[in-house]
Amino acid sequence: MGLTGMMGILSAAVAALVLPPAVLGLDNGLALTPPMGWLAWERFRCNTDCVNDPKNCISENLFYEMADRLVADGFLAAGYEYLNIDDCWLSRERDAHGRLQADPDRFPNGIKALADYVHSKGLKIGIYEDYGNYTCAGYPGILGYLETDAQTFADWDIDYVKLDGCYSHPKDMDRGYPEFGYYLNRTGRPMVYSCSWPVYQIYSGMTPDYASIVQHCNLWRNFDDIQDSWASVTSVIDYYGDQQAVLIPLAGPGHFNDPDMLIIGNFGLSFEQSKAQMALWSVMASPLLSSVDLRTIGADYRAILQNRAVIAVNQDPLGIQGKRIFKDKGIEIWARPITPVVGDFYSYAIVFFNRRVDGTPSQVSVTIQELGMLNPAGYKTEDLFAARTYGVLYPPTRLKVDVNPSGVVMVRCGAVCDLELIYNCRPRSR
Ligand SMILES: *[C@@H]1O[C@H](CO)[C@@H](O)[C@H](O)[C@H]1NC(C)=O
Ligand SMILES: *[C@@H]1O[C@H](CO)[C@@H](O)[C@H](O)[C@H]1NC(C)=O
Repeated sequence: MGLTGMMGILSAAVAALVLPPAVLGLDNGLALTPPMGWLAWERFRCNTDCVNDPKNCISENLFYEMADRLVADGFLAAGYEYLNIDDCWLSRERDAHGRLQADPDRFPNGIKALADYVHSKGLKIGIYEDYGNYTCAGYPGILGYLETDAQTFADWDIDYVKLDGCYSHPKDMDRGYPEFGYYLNRTGRPMVYSCSWPVYQIYSGMTPDYASIVQHCNLWRNFDDIQDSWASVTSVIDYYGDQQAVLIPLAGPGHFNDPDMLIIGNFGLSFEQSKAQMALWSVMASPLLSSVDLRTIGADYRAILQNRAVIAVNQDPLGIQGKRIFKDKGIEIWARPITPVVGDFYSYAIVFFNRRVDGTPSQVSVTIQELGMLNPAGYKTEDLFAARTYGVLYPPTRLKVDVNPSGVVMVRCGAVCDLELIYNCRPRSR
């Protein structure tokens, strides 16, 4: 495949990344980098049948076991700190004081005891509710109880709240999501606030007020729930690529777009596809919320989730969401500006993404300057999945990578500081 020569358009595309407009976000001091953790939904759904399926039903046992696995198997050490409950934890009824309560059969010790255990392991705990009369699965929603429920979560020492949007009027969300955020804030307990506000509005034909969403939420869902298939993963990637002009400026420390969970290690993705999801979610500055059975995940897939070099890209302190800078004939290139910034030059994480299905790797050949990297002192370049370094590459240097079908090559290009070439290697103040 002669992809060389198609790359002339790249420089202009990347240059537009420099200095995205500063967006003020929710000021609760949280999610300064994309949240990382485990979330029950994609893998475990609303299985409440603990009689026939005690190991997999939504119950406190499941969460105690996952907490143990997060710590014992190295996930916490890699940064996965939130253990997040999703729908179906609730009792069908509020208590006599109108407070939420966990299902007594499946959570006999209650959420506070679970939270205490999770905290004792060095983890944090997330919970789920819905800005409607019911949750998506039909359990009590928060309408009419916003203040009570915020206080209940604070009383239970919750660290993270996902607020879904079933059984509600999308038009009410512009008022309702900020209102619940106000009550969360009033509790005095910092809790990450994950909103489904834009996606329900988009579904109903509205244009989300992203300026308000960014101010009131730490993360927000823009698109469909992820499912256990490659088709689902690529549909998400397409959405974020196609909408990037709107979505990239929204992201930054404390406020991130949320393309939904990592499904790596489940049934639907191959090894190459799993690396692709990890790489793309990392260049997109997406939350890394794994939804997998940690008791049975294969070692190869665990290693993908725990790839420290890729996670470091995801967690880059600048919080800039990466951009799709090339897309043609099944080949995409995505670029994310990261630290260190040397003079005027960002470092970059680059993902070469091959969506072709012909059974042989495709070679992509591109110069460093075509990728938008112009630092005359060059970029120290390394592959983040394979043990391969390229040394220092200069703007005219050509980088050739062989990308497997339905796979990625991900490289990190660290801007080099050379005081003879760059007057002052410290980043220019923004
Ligand atoms: C929620 O229930 C109340 C009381 O029944 C009703 O007035 C309201 O319209 C409902 N809201 C939605 C979004 O369905
Ligand atoms: C509540 O909001 C104020 C003002 O934005 C902020 O300074 C404070 O940290 C917030 N507190 C919590 C617990 O979120």
